[in-house]
Amino acid sequence: MTPEEFRAHAHRFVDWMADYMAEVESYPVRAQVKPGEIAAKLPTAPPEAAEPMERIFDDFQRDVLPGITHWQHPNFFAYFPANSSPPSVLAEMLTATLGAQCMLWQTSPAATEMETRVLDWLRQMTGMPEGFTGVIQDSASGAILCAILTAREKATGWGVNTEGLKAHPPLAVYTSEQTHSATEKNVKIAGLGLSSFRKIPVDAAYRLRPEALAEAIEADVARGIKPICVVASIGGTGVGAVDPLRAIGEICRRHDVFLHVDAAWAGSALVCPEHRWMFDGIEYVDSLVFNPHKWLLTNFDCSAHFVRDPDALIRTFSIMPEFLKSREGDTVIDYRDWSVPLGRRFRALKLWFVIRSYGVEGLRALIRKHVALAAEFAGWVEVSDDFEVMAPPSLALVNFRYHPPGVEDAAELDRLNEALITRINDDGRIYLTQNRVDGAYVIRFSVGQTTTEHRHVEGAWQVIREIAAGL
Ligand SMILES: Cc1ncc(COP(=O)(O)O)c(C=O)c1O
Repeated sequence: MTPEEFRAHAHRFVDWMADYMAEVESYPVRAQVKPGEIAAKLPTAPPEAAEPMERIFDDFQRDVLPGITHWQHPNFFAYFPANSSPPSVLAEMLTATLGAQCMLWQTSPAATEMETRVLDWLRQMTGMPEGFTGVIQDSASGAILCAILTAREKATGWGVNTEGLKAHPPLAVYTSEQTHSATEKNVKIAGLGLSSFRKIPVDAAYRLRPEALAEAIEADVARGIKPICVVASIGGTGVGAVDPLRAIGEICRRHDVFLHVDAAWAGSALVCPEHRWMFDGIEYVDSLVFNPHKWLLTNFDCSAHFVRDPDALIRTFSIMPEFLKSREGDTVIDYRDWSVPLGRRFRALKLWFVIRSYGVEGLRALIRKHVALAAEFAGWVEVSDDFEVMAPPSLALVNFRYHPPGVEDAAELDRLNEALITRINDDGRIYLTQNRVDGAYVIRFSVGQTTTEHRHVEGAWQVIREIAAGL
């Protein structure tokens, strides 16, 4: 493709992109295809001969687009958001064009130095104290893995890295029953085995119970098991629970246990000072992750991982083959040793674009709008005769269920809500996902799309009631 051909295609694509952003509301939110339907349209063998871009793009629109769930749809209320924004997409185009591989300072000094700078912007924006250093990871899961591995190495004097686990006493990792499954997965990946994994019970507000944590740690110590890491949550996935960092931190300090905080979703809300109570006890925290790719207008992937002791992280991962040595040595940051993959995209650029385009004030306004919309939705549920809120709403997340008068059988209520969510998502106007709260099947309503306005939330409430009435 010549530069002139590229220019022509790119112009056409950008027109399509702008139209898509303007018209995304006209698509069903969740893809309405059956398993295998898209695969049936894709040739089973690669083309031997080159194909024209016009044909590829036509096929994208005709065959691929129907199989897309529209995460940027203003009626996307499922999971947690993965919101994006025009400035982020523009930056992503530049990143792709540069095609830089930013593993070392030398392989793109601007990428490294901008990453350091914008992560410190994020630290300041969220009210995190000085003394935390940031790095961009691909995912919150990746950051949690880094935390568990660092904790494992610190607790064993960097011994597992050299001798393996067998040379050490059994280790244990603690988290709450409400913590995202990423922690459990990472305990497996870290080679600790699920027998090392403790799910600590929660209180009535679904927060990890510190006294239960202390008991579990003490019981392990008494049995010769070494506690290495606690993963606390700020905004757990199910109901958005916020663990008490101070009480947990004091226990960790007492037992010399690494404390990681998973704030994947809720961390973005900390740009608003009124939500910073969630940070009470931050001085005890060793590392924390939140995802600007969830709720801060920065398209996937971009996880902000903050560590108090970068040397411990680097020492956990560091490896120095001849081909990766550079003459700058210790005078610069080489982010290659801060995470599992060696190769790194220039992800800081989109954060730089987003933060500058919206300003911190603009980002605060967005979070406040979403939180207010969710509160209004929860209010409608509360006063309704047929629906009930099932957990205290957290930021922009509401857990609720359909509960028509006269239906009291738990299994019947579960069945009704399962049927309701299936019909809602098959209908396509809005998209919701499910959860269990104290055993009951409930519906999660998560507000967080860049273009979601009052009318969308109001419309969603109408769709929910309309479909429930037809069950
Ligand atoms: C609280 C929490 N932690 C971790 C994750 C995993 O995030 P990632 O996809 O960035 O690994 C999620 C995903 O929704 C989450 O909600």
